[in-house]
Amino acid sequence: MSNVLRLAIVDPSDSSRTQLKNMLLGMDIVWLEAECSRYEFFADVIGQTKPDIGVIAIDSNPEKGLNLLEQVRDIAPDCALLVISSSSDGQIILRAMRGGAKEFLTQPVKVEDLISALDRISAAKFGTGDGRGRTCHVIAVCGATGGVGSTSLAVNLGCILAREERNSVVLVDLDMALGDADVCLDSIPDYTLVDVAQNIARLDFALLKRSLTKHASGLYLLPRPVQLQDTSHVTPDDLTRVLGLLKASFTHMVLDLSKSYAALDLVALKSAKDVLLVTQLDLPCLRNVVRLMLSFGEDDGLKEKIKIVVNRVGLESGAISLKKAQETMGREIFWQLPNDYKTMVEVRNNGVPLIEQAPRAGITQALLALAENLTGEKPKADGDGDASSTKTSQTGRWLNFLGGNKAKGK
Ligand SMILES: Nc1ncnc2c1ncn2[C@@H]1O[C@H](COP(=O)(O)OP(=O)(O)OP(=O)(O)O)[C@@H](O)[C@H]1O
Ligand SMILES: [Mg+2]
Repeated sequence: MSNVLRLAIVDPSDSSRTQLKNMLLGMDIVWLEAECSRYEFFADVIGQTKPDIGVIAIDSNPEKGLNLLEQVRDIAPDCALLVISSSSDGQIILRAMRGGAKEFLTQPVKVEDLISALDRISAAKFGTGDGRGRTCHVIAVCGATGGVGSTSLAVNLGCILAREERNSVVLVDLDMALGDADVCLDSIPDYTLVDVAQNIARLDFALLKRSLTKHASGLYLLPRPVQLQDTSHVTPDDLTRVLGLLKASFTHMVLDLSKSYAALDLVALKSAKDVLLVTQLDLPCLRNVVRLMLSFGEDDGLKEKIKIVVNRVGLESGAISLKKAQETMGREIFWQLPNDYKTMVEVRNNGVPLIEQAPRAGITQALLALAENLTGEKPKADGDGDASSTKTSQTGRWLNFLGGNKAKGK
């Protein structure tokens, strides 16, 4: 990631320093430039390494720690200072703030508090909003009804994004009862969402990454629970914390939602930057899109994030036309994905993503173009040259189609 925060820490206590280091090590938003176990040496360390952030844990000797804070503020005014203390004494907090601390965290440090503090420091340093900073790009994929192709889209989009070396991508399967993202990726995960949610308080980033299943494409997967009974063990609060952790350690997160639009799905919709609502060109689907859009309108900012993706275009001659569908939904069609049953059955049965199994197929090309549109970056296509110039007769047709897609999508 471009906007990595370089960080130096001082904490004479080996155990709390190690804990903090473990939290930081898995985060690709920070680079641990230096660690120090003596207050006496830290000012020199800061002078030499010039980090973006200096973390001072003051519990070992609050007086020395707070004096050091002022010293570092004076020698490195550009370094954002973060103080950690188990004390809730107002005087100490006040002294820390007056001494130049930008953030004050309570020991033991909660990972989500650390993330929020780093977020605020990052926002002040790099600015916010363009999605290209350290912010994780969260894409939620939901559907107008069962079987419209949302999992296929989520899995294949995730794999396409993960092929970029600069990206780290996680896919979370939120179809708690019947999710099948693991099958699509032919993987047998050791841990699931319920394990991560239940151990969230003890997880550091390194452990979190080890709890995920890494697919050959580079995509990390957090699957739905194995047992149906376990699904109720994940609360919206748990999921908010899990997503918060994942956001801090990945550049992209794809969320495959269930079709129940229950509490967990709403958490996912809320945390997403883009929501891809997958539909097909039939009346029940289009009617549900209208209903969903009405409900989404009640939620602040949600409606604006929705992007309609029409899947299986060309499925049957009797299907409703795109023009009519657009009129019915009262909403622009953001993207179109062609019907390609043969290819989709193959990738499903083999548990191999489209980009590997059928890199030149029209459906893969449409997904590559979708990834490019969403991220503003051209994703890596087929290894043997520029995939966009590889035209089978079918691909040629779909490339023309993509021209239309792009015009609409922007
Ligand atoms: N563009 C497509 N062309 C042809 N078949 C497709 C296409 N997209 C998906 N399919 C097929 O449709 C079926 C349902 O797809 P998928 O499981 O991705 O849908 P879903 O919306 O996630 O379903 P569920 O509601 O069960 O979660 C699968 O057999 C898949 O191979
Ligand atoms: Mg699904």
